[in-house]
Amino acid sequence: MLNFDFHNPTQIVFGKNRIADIGKLVPADAKVLILVGGASAEKTGTLGEVREALGARPNSTFNGIEPNPSFETVMKAVEQVREGDFNFLLAVGGGSVIDAAKFIAAAVPFEGDPWTILLKRGSNIKSALPFGTVLTLPATGSEMNNGSVITRRDIGAKLPFRSRHVFPLFSVLDPTKTYTLPTQQIANGVVDAFVHTVEQYLTYPVNAPVQDRFAESLLQTLVEVGPRLLSATEPDYDDRASLMWTATLALNGLIGAGVPQDWATHMIGHELTALHNIDHARTLAIVLPSMLNERRVQKHHKLLQYGERVWGIQSGTDDERITAAIDKTRDFFERMGIPTRLSAYGLAADAIDVVIRQLEEHGMTKLSERGDVTPEVSRRVLEAAL
Ligand code: NZQ
Ligand code: ZN
Repeated sequence: MLNFDFHNPTQIVFGKNRIADIGKLVPADAKVLILVGGASAEKTGTLGEVREALGARPNSTFNGIEPNPSFETVMKAVEQVREGDFNFLLAVGGGSVIDAAKFIAAAVPFEGDPWTILLKRGSNIKSALPFGTVLTLPATGSEMNNGSVITRRDIGAKLPFRSRHVFPLFSVLDPTKTYTLPTQQIANGVVDAFVHTVEQYLTYPVNAPVQDRFAESLLQTLVEVGPRLLSATEPDYDDRASLMWTATLALNGLIGAGVPQDWATHMIGHELTALHNIDHARTLAIVLPSMLNERRVQKHHKLLQYGERVWGIQSGTDDERITAAIDKTRDFFERMGIPTRLSAYGLAADAIDVVIRQLEEHGMTKLSERGDVTPEVSRRVLEAAL
């Protein structure tokens, strides 16, 4: 096992009817700016419940954080916080609203140009406003981690940052708040959580059996509940709860502690979202199967373990078993209604050059757990995903 630090200060408040607890979690003297996306939080009644829970605390709402939140939008919120002297943020939404909250929290007290937070991947953040979250879309794990991804539309750059200062203080996870999600977003959530787990598990062995088995249990749970979530005519509380907790555990630092991590699929996926506005999880479903195939030698041992423990593949030569494991992965995404080819989005070979240029532009030239995913390798992965 590799050396590691593990620190996760976010309080999770899980279950039905837990939004009222916000009244106890937000400091009594807070002046709160609530952050929401489009219309969903208002329409579903969640925003109303949040306002009620805040009681007499002065509060206002910043509306309009878009999926894949933009630097342009979050900077408007930064202005509102500064002008209104708000001292607490409350994000109500999915990964986009929570990621936006993290950037806003860090940018408000930041001295200098906040764009450099992204250029320096968060290493220059010295403090941040406190914030809590109410999760309405299980997928990204942002509710219990210190990472965030912000897009600058004018230059088509979608860049991640992280900082120990931007862990949420608390996150309310009420599975019933997911009942209003369109099927497509549920499928996105399953696939995003699946790929987060794979990025931290499917690398090379370092004798970390606990992390491996944790990761395998998350993958098995997603394989089990994913199709049921899609076919259910009425939302099933327990399956929603399983998805919510699985997605949180997939990216709260636990399974990634002490093991090598990949993230090449995510970095290529971010470029596809920035350039073509494809949902985050959908970009991962395009890239991952061909990435696993491209790197089947480097990931040989773990691919065999994954095939056997997650998919029950026990017979055949090593090569056959690895191919079967990758096929099962692709088939799972397709069964979730998520295409695994660029052509499904009308993209052909001529789209690849720009993606590669953007990867180079953003310093993404030595990706993966071994740093061996060069632009040339990324090109082959995308070509195989046509
Ligand atoms: O905008 P509203 O009207 O709220 O609608 C949203 C949005 O259109 C809707 N929605 C959310 N909860 C709902 C709901 N609709 C009905 N009922 C509800 N309960 O869902 C749509 C998508 O929301 P979004 O927040 O964009 O989705 P997701 O949670 O998948 O977040 C994606 C973003 O997170 C980043 C992605 O790159 C992307 O920008 N990620 C963040 C990570 C992190 N911080 O650790 C890691 C991930 O790998 C990922 O990169
Ligand atoms: Zn993701």
